[in-house]
Amino acid sequence: MYLCHDCEHANPVKLGRCPNCWAFGTFIKDPTKVKKSKSTSVREGTWWDQLKLGTTKASTWYDLQHPEMERIFTSWIKWWGLYLLWGEPGIGKSTIMLQILEQLSQNNKIKIAYFSWEEDSSQITDRKNRLDGKPNDDHPLTKGVDAGKAAAGGSQDQAAVEPKSASEAWSPGFDIYQAHHLEDILTTTEANQYDLIVVDSIQTVYTPHHPSVAWSISQIKRCSEKISERCKKNGVACFLIGHVTKWGEIAGPKYLEHIVDVVLYLEWDRYGQYRFLRTKKNRFGPSDEVGIFEMTLFGLLPVYDLKDRIINQANITAPGNVLTVGIDNGRPVIVHLEVLLNKANGKYPQRITSGIEQKRLQIIIAILERYLKINLSAFDIYVNIPWEFEFRDTGLDLAIAAAVYSQSKNVIIDKQLVFLWELGLSGQLLPTKNHKRRKNDIQEFDCIDFERIKYITELPQIL
Ligand code: TYD
Ligand code: MG
Repeated sequence: MYLCHDCEHANPVKLGRCPNCWAFGTFIKDPTKVKKSKSTSVREGTWWDQLKLGTTKASTWYDLQHPEMERIFTSWIKWWGLYLLWGEPGIGKSTIMLQILEQLSQNNKIKIAYFSWEEDSSQITDRKNRLDGKPNDDHPLTKGVDAGKAAAGGSQDQAAVEPKSASEAWSPGFDIYQAHHLEDILTTTEANQYDLIVVDSIQTVYTPHHPSVAWSISQIKRCSEKISERCKKNGVACFLIGHVTKWGEIAGPKYLEHIVDVVLYLEWDRYGQYRFLRTKKNRFGPSDEVGIFEMTLFGLLPVYDLKDRIINQANITAPGNVLTVGIDNGRPVIVHLEVLLNKANGKYPQRITSGIEQKRLQIIIAILERYLKINLSAFDIYVNIPWEFEFRDTGLDLAIAAAVYSQSKNVIIDKQLVFLWELGLSGQLLPTKNHKRRKNDIQEFDCIDFERIKYITELPQIL
């Protein structure tokens, strides 16, 4: 029997492509049929505990104060919490982790271990020097660069980075290991009684006690299960760092998300300048938050002036451009929405969207055609929201309608106006989810309120 080492699909003959997960060249001989040596046998079911409900220990949280991360962690890390941080290679997972660890080790008297396999001590030290804003004359990027000046181009707080002397040796407040054997990680953690460990990355962890190849899904599953079990047993907080595949999927079983307490995703914007740290699941705090960061020459820094940047970059002085407030994972973000109408060449006009749902656009087109009597069937319609925001948010309805209308009539919308409402199929305006939160975010703008417009038919009067 042969097994796909990605999804464990079994087949009597070796296939070039797995019919289950469509991966190429992943079939291997079923390792469970391979004779095992006695020395590799392991005892199963080593830990269980009877839970005593109603009691929580006093010092069960570690202090983490970071302006953008507070949104997600609410300034604490749970003592036995299991955190999963996913992202594409090179996005900045190790960098953000190092920043979190520095904070934790400064604010708390705890023992921390960082297990890395992909990087050695010089790479980690180099990263640390960059985070400290130390000019490194050996590094082509930071050679002779003034950290304060380099960072000042970014968000407000970045100018506060104080360059330190490169000769100052770094003594981290935590231990760093280059290890990838599961057993080494577990025994080191227990022997040194660490309070918090980081495994960077879970895909590189390997145990010979499980009959599957390194990097296979069953290895990841097995190793994370074991780490989780030991951490929960010993009251150790743990961060597992993982890569996503180039298709944006987690390179590991989905079930990993079930066994951990918090799932965090680090994602890029389309141009690679910004990073969004999103919570997908959070047993200890909000699961709908997003932290916005920017990768600079001197680390991943929080972005506080996102609103100003979006507005400054937006070309709101052309027809088809409006401002609105979308909800990204629970956080209100002001966004610039742009629409282009172009004469349709084919039999069926195109409806192309980036950042919003195509179906929602089709509904809004139908509402506009019906109630404002404009014929849009002769046009291809393109809607775009710059930056990496993806909204499944009906709160953008009126903004989309206004932008389409302004393109079709060639009118420019005042850049002080912000459109927030949802549209009903009878053309009435409906308040959106989180309406108050959205409004609070845009107090300096002129928010279209219910006194001014109740039906889509009144749209031309307010533009
Ligand atoms: P890294 O944290 O190693 O990514 P991951 O762990 O997700 O693979 O980040 C690597 C990228 O970030 C790399 O392209 C270099 C860049 N970087 C900076 O631009 N500035 C910095 O201060 C640091 C530390 C990294
Ligand atoms: Mg890394």
